[in-house]
Amino acid sequence: MHGSRLIPGSLAAVAGLASLANADVIRGQAMLTGQVTTGGTCSFANYTLPRDIYGVGIGGGNWAGGGKCGSCLDVFGPGGSARVMIVDSCTSCANNRLNLFSDAFRRIAGTDQGGIIDVEFDVVSCDIDEPIVVRNKVGTSRYHFSLQVLNANLPITALHVSTDGGQNWEETVRREYNFFERATGQSGGFSADRVMVRVSCSNGRRVILPEVSAAELVVTRAPTNC
Ligand SMILES: *[C@@H]1O[C@H](CO)[C@@H](O)[C@H](O)[C@H]1NC(C)=O
Repeated sequence: MHGSRLIPGSLAAVAGLASLANADVIRGQAMLTGQVTTGGTCSFANYTLPRDIYGVGIGGGNWAGGGKCGSCLDVFGPGGSARVMIVDSCTSCANNRLNLFSDAFRRIAGTDQGGIIDVEFDVVSCDIDEPIVVRNKVGTSRYHFSLQVLNANLPITALHVSTDGGQNWEETVRREYNFFERATGQSGGFSADRVMVRVSCSNGRRVILPEVSAAELVVTRAPTNC
């Protein structure tokens, strides 16, 4: 699946995931961490990682306030490669430090199974063979809008809501805990039992969910993926 990749030696550690959108490859380091999907800052407690995709926490500036939650990286280490999904933060880590779930670490670490290894990584499509799913947070209602996006193959750049059949769209705010909500200062909800939701992907594609309930814990499948 993955060929060998050469990266320019000048790629500085300050290069972040923003530049990865331009297909750059980042040089960084990875260390082993426990399995933390449920505890991760991306709030994926009720999400099962797709087959052959492992979990990772990302550091420092790459975290972007939860803005990269659910995005996938291909990570190349001395012993192999693994596809990982961003499920957690490591805010005290350097920008290009990856906290790899142990199964992914074992795959790519080669002989150095205990320490910190040098890796290269870039943002890739998760290649999930399912549509996008949105999941409403506990406590969601007409008066409090809060949902997260799951299964998206590409980074999500925005999530808009319409209460008038798609004529007008309001942009929501992505919270650090990875739920999209109305901006601070506005009432928490859209005063509607059902809304339209529009998910914008990093490739410019927009995925529309024509009918999303405002009830808590509801899971709604989109017609397609990014
Ligand atoms: C997971 O689901 C349970 C109950 O179904 C709910 O109480 C909890 O808040 C959910 N967690 C997240 C992060 O959505």
